[in-house]
Amino acid sequence: MKDHIDPSNLPQHIAVIMDGNGRWAKQQGAARVFGHRNAIKAVRETTEGCAELGIKYLTLYAFSTENWNRPKLEVDALMTLLVHTIRGEIKTLMDNNVRLATIGNTESLPSDCQRELQEAIRATEQNTGLTLTLALSYSGRWEIIEAVRRISTEVQQGRFQPGDIDEGLFSSYLATGGMPDPELMIRTSGEMRISNFLLWQLAYSEFYMPDVLWPDFRREHLWEAILTYQKRERRFGKTSEQVIK
Ligand code: IPE
Ligand code: IPE
Ligand code: MG
Repeated sequence: MKDHIDPSNLPQHIAVIMDGNGRWAKQQGAARVFGHRNAIKAVRETTEGCAELGIKYLTLYAFSTENWNRPKLEVDALMTLLVHTIRGEIKTLMDNNVRLATIGNTESLPSDCQRELQEAIRATEQNTGLTLTLALSYSGRWEIIEAVRRISTEVQQGRFQPGDIDEGLFSSYLATGGMPDPELMIRTSGEMRISNFLLWQLAYSEFYMPDVLWPDFRREHLWEAILTYQKRERRFGKTSEQVIK
């Protein structure tokens, strides 16, 4: 299947809403946390799969602003898992030339999580292949409000005028500033919603929403997603005839 992927038409940026861990655990008659623990393999497969193909950016929605409202037991387990996973995966990141980054209100994470993240970001900062961005305590509306606040301050300090604010300037104030918008967004588990993920950046992304639950997601699913993406006609408001010529 991988052989059918056209290397000249790869998305530069793939965004993923990793969903379905709880349902996966329930199917096994286990607690939700069991699903989260079994999600690490899917993260590794997706990261390595993207790195192998030469994708430049992979952004994974790992914990939303709204996820803070889950039972404390689950939130605590997710944070502990995050600390251990980052520590354990640095070698995989180095082996695959992956640079780690985060978006989101990471200051709200427990201090040991913040430390591990900073450590891994520093350890991988010279890597030149895939940029793996974890969205943690992230939501699209939070990010937009943050950008508006920072832009307002700049205007107040006279650095630019309201009339200077255009799409390019606004984008550069988002947490993803400097990254291209995702051409492809994958959400597993069959849910058909954005759940406050990259609201601005997904404006023209192609959506691919397979029924597979996140802990079962493997390289083959990633390849299938990319193949589906390559069959789509991206029109950006134009007519099909305009796009084909
Ligand atoms: C996604 O799986 C992981 C996180 C949101 C952290 P869920 O935990 O949302 O699993 P479901 O949707 O309940 O099956
Ligand atoms: C979105 O999944 C957040 C992450 C995958 C981290 P949720 O499972 O929290 O989304 P909703 O609440 O079902 O929309
Ligand atoms: Mg869910």
